[in-house]
Amino acid sequence: MRKNIIAGNWKMNKTLQEGLELAKGLEAALKDRSYACGIIIGTPFIHLASLPAVIDTKKIAVAAQNCADKESGAYTGEVSAAMVKSTGAEYVILGHSERRSYYGETFEVLKEKTLLALKNGLKPIFCIGEVKAEREANKQNEVVKAQLEGSVFNLPAEEFSKLVIAYEPVWAIGTGLTATPEQAQEIHAYIRSLIADKYGKEVADNTTILYGGSCNAQNAKGLFVNPDIDGGLIGGASLKVEDFVAIIDAIG
Ligand code: 13P
Repeated sequence: MRKNIIAGNWKMNKTLQEGLELAKGLEAALKDRSYACGIIIGTPFIHLASLPAVIDTKKIAVAAQNCADKESGAYTGEVSAAMVKSTGAEYVILGHSERRSYYGETFEVLKEKTLLALKNGLKPIFCIGEVKAEREANKQNEVVKAQLEGSVFNLPAEEFSKLVIAYEPVWAIGTGLTATPEQAQEIHAYIRSLIADKYGKEVADNTTILYGGSCNAQNAKGLFVNPDIDGGLIGGASLKVEDFVAIIDAIG
């Protein structure tokens, strides 16, 4: 059966020193607790190589927030999937709405990034979700369907099975507006049905689908009790140990 996961996305926050302190603080806070979910921190590239020396990455797995759509070579400023993997990172967040909207990442680019991540042994946390106008026009289902079909439904089932899907309604990211548990459950169930149509029920049942967007200690439990919500991708609340731990406690 699928795994519950709480993943933090630090975005462009924390210097190297601050980030290592945050990671160590998280490990210390979790030390005497029992929890059944997977825990991941998605850090800037700068932190990745230093983290395995300060935390046990078997207990707190590490994710990059991006990787290049090219294998290697003359691409100044880019970081390849192979480089990410060589740090000990296990995951890579791909398709975040901030990358799609601010950096123009297209379905095609994300398809390439996903293929390279998988080729290099990274597990993509693939983000999908609609903007406010699309939700208001009741187009959220067609938006997430197109995002999946455009970038990851080309994968064979064996490769798709390595993905974690994160549904993040763009209107809920960093806004304090959260999808209601009913809205989130409804679209998570729809996403799972799309996966079932494409890859069959077993793959769909085994796919972890995270919710992201202003998830916090107060609203986490109400979201996570739903059958198709398998944890969260947490932005702002992952930057403080106590807030992140409270969300981990909410899923248990
Ligand atoms: P917030 O939790 O800050 O809304 O961010 C969510 C997010 O974008 C995680 O990837």
